[in-house]
Amino acid sequence: MPVLRGYTAADWGAVLDLCLLAFAPACESLERLLGTGLDAKSSIRGHLRSLIRPGERRRLVVAELHGSVVGFAHYRIDRDAHSGIIGLSAVHPALQGRGIGSLMFNHVLAAMRAQGLKYATADTGGHSCHAATRRAYEKVGFVAVPMVHYFMKLGAPRAVSPPGSRRERGQGARHRTRRAG
Ligand SMILES: CC(C)(COP(=O)(O)OP(=O)(O)OC[C@H]1O[C@@H](n2cnc3c(N)ncnc32)[C@H](O)[C@@H]1OP(=O)(O)O)[C@@H](O)C(=O)NCCC(=O)NCCS
Repeated sequence: MPVLRGYTAADWGAVLDLCLLAFAPACESLERLLGTGLDAKSSIRGHLRSLIRPGERRRLVVAELHGSVVGFAHYRIDRDAHSGIIGLSAVHPALQGRGIGSLMFNHVLAAMRAQGLKYATADTGGHSCHAATRRAYEKVGFVAVPMVHYFMKLGAPRAVSPPGSRRERGQGARHRTRRAG
């Protein structure tokens, strides 16, 4: 079984590589759905970089097996909501399905409990490529709350009628009729 420990600067290359590998199916699925202009890999790289900032990296847990980084998991804390949020996590694709994800998630949940938090949340997609992630979250005790996440590219605005324009026209016509009578 791997050893869990805190992230160190020497882990960056390994963490980035395994993260991009683990998210490749999700990135491809997202780009098929929304267009390749999205560049999902760049946004994951940017997000990962934001997690190694000094205030964040203490909540970045790394799984090491035989001297190699094989997984990582990050969590945030929302004190107002008494919640911990499992954020970005990944296990090297060659080692998925062997309990490393559950080990990291249980470790993170224990860290949240130790900090007096009452709730934990985690998000993932509803697509088939996220089936393993949903299963991994459910395995450690999460209950799925179905939601729909909307996304659009902010290009040129679409030509749309102003909201309520038909109704307004109708009211105007009625108003004119009353005045005429
Ligand atoms: C989510 C993730 C970290 C889980 O890591 P893992 O090491 O595979 O997790 P575990 O081995 O503990 O497996 C958890 C459960 O998922 C199941 N699972 C693994 N791969 C699966 C697959 N392809 N399809 C369905 N279930 C799968 C396991 O069988 C296990 O359930 P079980 O014990 O009832 O059989 C890993 O799948 C991953 O890196 N996914 C891509 C990145 C991602 O989506 N990260 C999370 C959101 S940021």
